[in-house]
Amino acid sequence: MRNYDVIDLIKNKYLNHNKEDVLKHVENVAEIAVELAEAYNLDVDRIRLAALLHDISGIMTPQEMYDFAKSRSLKIDPAEEKYHALLHQRVSRIIAQEDFDITDSDILNSIECHTTLKKNASVYDKVIFIADKISWDQKGVPSCGDLLKSATIEALDEACYLYIKYQFDNNLLVMPHQWLIEAYEDLKKNL
Ligand SMILES: [Fe+2]
Ligand SMILES: [Fe+2]
Repeated sequence: MRNYDVIDLIKNKYLNHNKEDVLKHVENVAEIAVELAEAYNLDVDRIRLAALLHDISGIMTPQEMYDFAKSRSLKIDPAEEKYHALLHQRVSRIIAQEDFDITDSDILNSIECHTTLKKNASVYDKVIFIADKISWDQKGVPSCGDLLKSATIEALDEACYLYIKYQFDNNLLVMPHQWLIEAYEDLKKNL
């Protein structure tokens, strides 16, 4: 399938489920991520697809995500058990694979950990993670001031670390996901 055909299919999937708001968000993430990809010499087409697909599971309710994850025998993190919406990153990966024939591991992995990041994250993972956070920050939720925008181009790892630290320091995480805890430790160790 050609790239622009897939992009149309992705957009239609959001629109067919009346998810114009999510489509707007993922397009915004794609714009930010492409800018970062250029700064980090990453494959722009792959980053664009990852950004557009990262919240594709938004077409489901949290309960549907949970049932879907169970039906695929995913090992559920305690945080996901309590807050089913946390599963959306992992469910998005499966939809990207099954409905859009995405096989590229850089794309799939960055979709899968865009909310929590994970240890040994790739540059693709970090770009999608940060682009998603900058996009939310523009809407004021959650707000980290100018922290991310200024930090990201010079130091992607530091931006990821500062964002997660901000969440811990301000008690924004009711129940941290294990992947986030491990990503935080990993980033701290390597700074
Ligand atoms: Fe998300
Ligand atoms: Fe998102």
